[in-house]
Amino acid sequence: MKKHVGIEALAIAVPRRYVDIEDLARARGVDPAKYTSGLGAKEMAVADPGEDSVALAATAAARLLRNNDVDPARLGMLVVGTETGVDHSKPVASHVQGLLKLPRTMRVFDSQHACYGGTAGLMAATEWIASGAAAGRSALIICSDIARYGLNTAGEPTQGAGAVAMLVSEQPELLALDVGLNGACSMDVYDFWRPLGRREAVVDGHYSIQCYLEALSGAYRGWRERALAHEVVRWGSTLPGEQLARILYHVPFCKMARKAHTQLRLCDLEDAPTAATSTPVAREEQARSSSSYEAQVASSLGLNARIGNVYTASLYLALAGLLHGEGAALSGQRLGLLSYGSGCSSEFFSGVVGDKAAQRMARADVEGVLARRERVSVQEYERVMQLPYESPEPTPPAAGSFRLAEIHEHRRRYVEGA
Ligand code: HMG
Repeated sequence: MKKHVGIEALAIAVPRRYVDIEDLARARGVDPAKYTSGLGAKEMAVADPGEDSVALAATAAARLLRNNDVDPARLGMLVVGTETGVDHSKPVASHVQGLLKLPRTMRVFDSQHACYGGTAGLMAATEWIASGAAAGRSALIICSDIARYGLNTAGEPTQGAGAVAMLVSEQPELLALDVGLNGACSMDVYDFWRPLGRREAVVDGHYSIQCYLEALSGAYRGWRERALAHEVVRWGSTLPGEQLARILYHVPFCKMARKAHTQLRLCDLEDAPTAATSTPVAREEQARSSSSYEAQVASSLGLNARIGNVYTASLYLALAGLLHGEGAALSGQRLGLLSYGSGCSSEFFSGVVGDKAAQRMARADVEGVLARRERVSVQEYERVMQLPYESPEPTPPAAGSFRLAEIHEHRRRYVEGA
C-alpha cells in the first residue's frame, strides 16, 4: 500500500458574470446584512447556458494541465463529480475527455451523490493509486456544478457555479492525504433533491442544515477514532480537532462553515475524558468560540464568499482559497476536510500540506481568474437565469475557456476560445 498519495495541483474555473450580493438583497427588499453577515456571502457567480457543467469542467481541467505542464499520457482515470450533468446517460467526463483529447486508455466516468460526488471520485482515485493498481499513473478529478434554486426563493442568495480540477498522484505537492483515516456517515433523508427534468433544486433549507450537522458528527467521530488509534491526534491539553492546523468544510454558504465548526467542537467537548466536569451549557458556549473559528476556519472562505455554492466543488474551492493565501505558511501542517452531499453522505478526511503548495497555487492564478469576471446588475442576472438552456447565446469564449455553442439533434457542440 502506497502512503504518499494526494493532490498534486489544482485549477479553478468560474462563469464570466457575477452579481454583488448586496445588490441582490436590495432588489429583493431584504436587509443586505442578512446575506452578508447572516449567510456570509459577498458575490454570486451567474452561469449562462453556454457555461454548463461540461464547459466549466473542461475549462478547469485544461487550465490545470496547461499551467502544470502535465503530459496527458500520465492519466489513467478521469472522474467528474457533478449533480448538474447535461445528459441522463452520457457523462460530463466523456465530453471532457473528447474536448481535451485525453488518452483512450483511461477509466472515465461521472460520480453523483449531490455535493459529495467529487469526494467520492477523489477517494476512488486516491485508493486506486494507493493500492498500486494505478501502476504509477495519475488521475484527473473534476468537480463541476451549477447551483440553482430560482428567483425569489430562500435559497437564491446561496446559488453559484464553477469547477475545480485536481491532479491526484504519488507526488502530492499540494496535499498528501492520510489514506485510510477517513470517517463516513450517510443517511436516507429528503433534505435537498432535484427531481428528474427540473432545473432548480427542491430544498427543505433548515432541515438540510440539521442533516449536515448530524452527518458531520458521525463522519468526524469516525475519523477521530482512527486518527487517535494512529496517534495522529490525542486527548490532551488541546482537543483532537484543535490539533488540526485548519479545518475545511463543505460550504453551501459561508455561515454554514461556522455552524459546522461549532458542531465539530461540540463532538470533541462532549466526548472528552473531562466532559463530566462541565455542563452542556458551558460546552455549547466553548464550542461557539470565535477565536477557534477565526484561527482554524475563516481564512479558507475567501473564494466561497465570492463565488457562492458550487455543490461538489465547494469544499475544494475552500482548499484552493486556503492554500492560495497560506500555502507556504501551512507547509507540513495537517488539515481536516469535511465533505457533505445532501440525501445524504458525508466524509471527514485529512491531509498534510505539501512543501510546494505555494508554487502550485501560484500556477492556478485564482486572483486572475476572478479578476476577469464582469459584475452584472440584478436585471441582467434575472435575464440570464431565464434563458432557455438548449439555446446558448452566441458569445465567443474567452481564451483558453470552453463554451457550449449549440445543441443539434441532441448532440452538444463546444468551442474553445483561442
Ligand atoms: P432563510 O430562512 O431565508 O434565512 O434561509 P434565515 O431566516 O434562516 O436567516 C439566515 C441567517 O441570517 C440566520 O442566521 C439569521 O439569524 C440571519 P443563523 O441564525 O442561522 O446564524 N439574519 C440576519 N443577520 C444579520 N442581519 C439581518 C438578518 N436577518 C437574518 N438583518 C437557508 C436560509 C440557508 C435555509 C436558505 O438560504 C436555503 O434554503 N439555502 C439552500 C440550502 C442550504 O444551503 N443548506 C445547507 C445545508 S445542506 C448542504 O450543504 C447541501 C447542498 O450544498 C446541496 C448538495 O449537497 O448538493 C445545499
